[in-house]
Amino acid sequence: MGDIGGIVAGKKILIMGLRNKWGIAWGITKKLYDEGAELAFTYMGEREEQGVRDLLKSLADRDGEAGNTVGVSRLQGGDFPLFKCDLGDDGEIDAAFAALGAQWGRLDGVVHAIANARTEDLQNDFIMTSREGFAHALNISAYTLVYVSRKASELMTTGKGDKGGGGSDGSGGNSGDISNGGSSGGSSGGGGSILTLTYMGSERVFPGYNVMGVAKAALEATVRYLAHNLGPSGIRVNAISSGPIKTLSSKAVKNFSSIMSVVDEKAPLKRGVSADEIGGSALYLLSDLSSAVTGEIHYVDCGFNIMGT
Ligand SMILES: NC(=O)c1ccc[n+]([C@@H]2O[C@H](COP(=O)([O-])OP(=O)(O)OC[C@H]3O[C@@H](n4cnc5c(N)ncnc54)[C@H](O)[C@@H]3O)[C@@H](O)[C@H]2O)c1
Repeated sequence: MGDIGGIVAGKKILIMGLRNKWGIAWGITKKLYDEGAELAFTYMGEREEQGVRDLLKSLADRDGEAGNTVGVSRLQGGDFPLFKCDLGDDGEIDAAFAALGAQWGRLDGVVHAIANARTEDLQNDFIMTSREGFAHALNISAYTLVYVSRKASELMTTGKGDKGGGGSDGSGGNSGDISNGGSSGGSSGGGGSILTLTYMGSERVFPGYNVMGVAKAALEATVRYLAHNLGPSGIRVNAISSGPIKTLSSKAVKNFSSIMSVVDEKAPLKRGVSADEIGGSALYLLSDLSSAVTGEIHYVDCGFNIMGT
């Protein structure tokens, strides 16, 4: 058994933003899977589909490995629910959540690991950002959390005290009542947990991060307003502020390698964070261990954010 075996066992969690093995979503996926979550996924478009399918196959192969403390396949002989979903299109989001609702009936958690900005807006000086580039970055990187949370909350219907109804997995039914409050969903009943990813470029200037910094500031405010709206339904909304990690998205940021090397030098832990470590913190925020935590921006950055110089 691992130290915290199965702490999300039976929870139904949708991961949006898995693309390849370098991404933060993959670090989170492995952790949740190994700790017993039932997972579903969305991918952006045809270009991403095969890569995601290959990753999911390797995930299923983890069953029985030492890291999997639960030892039960969440696939039950089938595939992971997987939906195409370009978050720039409300219709695709509607369709993905409708299909997920039809398959699962309820939802306990969502990971929103999505961001995008025009390449030129991450290469030029910030002052050159176009109106269109500004709107695009804020739309995809911040607004999408609003719409996704609205759709997800409709499926986070297992109210506190609703032990009846029972899904086929024995993890509680779909009561249709989200007004009871309580902790974060799953087998213990009540609400849900929504998690997004942000970066300290929301508060401080990292040359090259540019319009993404503005989008992350909007995203963090969005987390707080959503936490207020959804709290009475027992749904928590939080963000992890990750330290810099080399991924396909971050490679588009001019100066990214110098941003990373400063962390190695100045962070109290004298190193950067890994996607797997983000997975560990995500596990906590998606589990009932964090049942009283909402509206938080949680730094997972080897302590870099506390430093003055
Ligand atoms: N890598 C870092 O240093 C770092 C640090 C802090 C926060 N983050 C955040 O973590 C999250 C994941 O990024 P990552 O670095 O793992 O890179 P990544 O490239 O693996 O993930 C970004 C994801 O966004 C998806 N995406 C972009 N536009 C989309 C759209 N219109 N519809 C659907 N999906 C879309 C991509 O397909 C991809 O899966 C992002 O929000 C990013 O800003 C990253």
